[in-house]
Amino acid sequence: MPLTGRRLSLDNPVHECDPASETYVEAAELRRYGQVVPVVLFGGVRTWITTSAEASRAILEANPDIGKDPANWAALQRGEIPGSWPFLTLITEKSMFNADGADHLRLRRLVSHAFTHKRITAVVPRLTAIADELLDGLSGDGPVDLKTAYAYPLPMRTICEFFGITDPDEQDELRDEYATMFDAVATPEERSRAATALEATLVRHIEDKRRHPDDRLTSTLIDIHELDGDRLTEEELLGTLHIILAAGHETTVNAIMNTVVALLTHPDQLALLRDGRRPWSSTVDAGLRWNVPLKCVYMRYALRDTDICGTVVPAGEPIATMIAGAQRNSDTADARFDVTSDDRGHIGFGAGSHFCLGAPLARQEITIGLERLFTRYPNLRLAVEPEELTHIVSPAINGLTALPLHLA
Ligand code: HEM
Repeated sequence: MPLTGRRLSLDNPVHECDPASETYVEAAELRRYGQVVPVVLFGGVRTWITTSAEASRAILEANPDIGKDPANWAALQRGEIPGSWPFLTLITEKSMFNADGADHLRLRRLVSHAFTHKRITAVVPRLTAIADELLDGLSGDGPVDLKTAYAYPLPMRTICEFFGITDPDEQDELRDEYATMFDAVATPEERSRAATALEATLVRHIEDKRRHPDDRLTSTLIDIHELDGDRLTEEELLGTLHIILAAGHETTVNAIMNTVVALLTHPDQLALLRDGRRPWSSTVDAGLRWNVPLKCVYMRYALRDTDICGTVVPAGEPIATMIAGAQRNSDTADARFDVTSDDRGHIGFGAGSHFCLGAPLARQEITIGLERLFTRYPNLRLAVEPEELTHIVSPAINGLTALPLHLA
């Protein structure tokens, strides 16, 4: 049947995305052009982008016309995507993130046991101990930057412990390499250097675990690979570690910070948690509905000419999913920060088969992180006006460069 949707084209992008733009202002601007629109991304890459909840769901949820395997991106196969594009490694390496169908299931199942609700509940005491230890280290009369002192190390230490990376220097190395790789302010050379260094750090980590195995995730994956290389190749082993580390820290860091700001600027909502009228766990969905840490997900590909909400995306072209376009959209979504709602109908953790693998862990990190922080420091307050907080310049992350707070 001929497709009847609008014929826009990647040859005529309607907008050049600017990672320095205010997330929701840019989302609203894009929405004016339609639900699926052709844009130029940071780094000169052309893609379609979704701007509404309906279009994002059409992409994320089971859709036989859409895939994640980059073999289906025609421009990439023609060698047209610059090597310095920040997401190139993430979207081309061999991992569950870039796989479809049986391959996706195989790669996801190898690690999904580590992230079940039951397994994550067992990590709660350790998570609480890390949070308390970090809070013990906060002090001083002047403002404290919550990002460096707490919001960053809490998820980073937790995820590193999953892998058996206990050396604080190695944890910092990984943090800096990831930060530079996705930093829109860094030069293309700096980003490429960081990507190479990151791969070397992960290869070194795998070698170290080969010599000194433990009961953590990396050693488990090495065992699987060594027993049966078809179940997990060496390349997939590296890609799996990479995607879990990449997906598992910066997102949670900014979820914690965005939600701290939301609570400090909505004292009525904070009071509900302090009084025990709402559980701290309700901050997770309230925070994701209000201010998503991951504003855009790259990449999916049209496997054939595909009509998405009335726009035809030609076969072989990429589609980015703008999660921020689906959230805090006064047309369709919740525009208030509201801890009394149990609505999980947001797509902050994605949807469909690639739904966030680490969501149970992220939920605990945010819940425990906030509960320990606000209990320890009942007089916590912003050290600057909310308008003075500076935002990260990033095509993917919606967060803050720092979060200065007075503890007392
Ligand atoms: C608040 C924190 C987090 C947010 C907002 C978040 C968000 C997301 C989203 C939107 C996706 C879907 C991507 C897509 O459809 O292409 C995703 C996938 C994923 N997330 Fe998270 N994430 C968070 C924390 C974590 C944590 C803590 C981990 C691991 C420890 C993790 C691991 C993953 C992995 C491995 C995938 C890929 C799953 C697949 O392709 O099957 N995430 N996440």
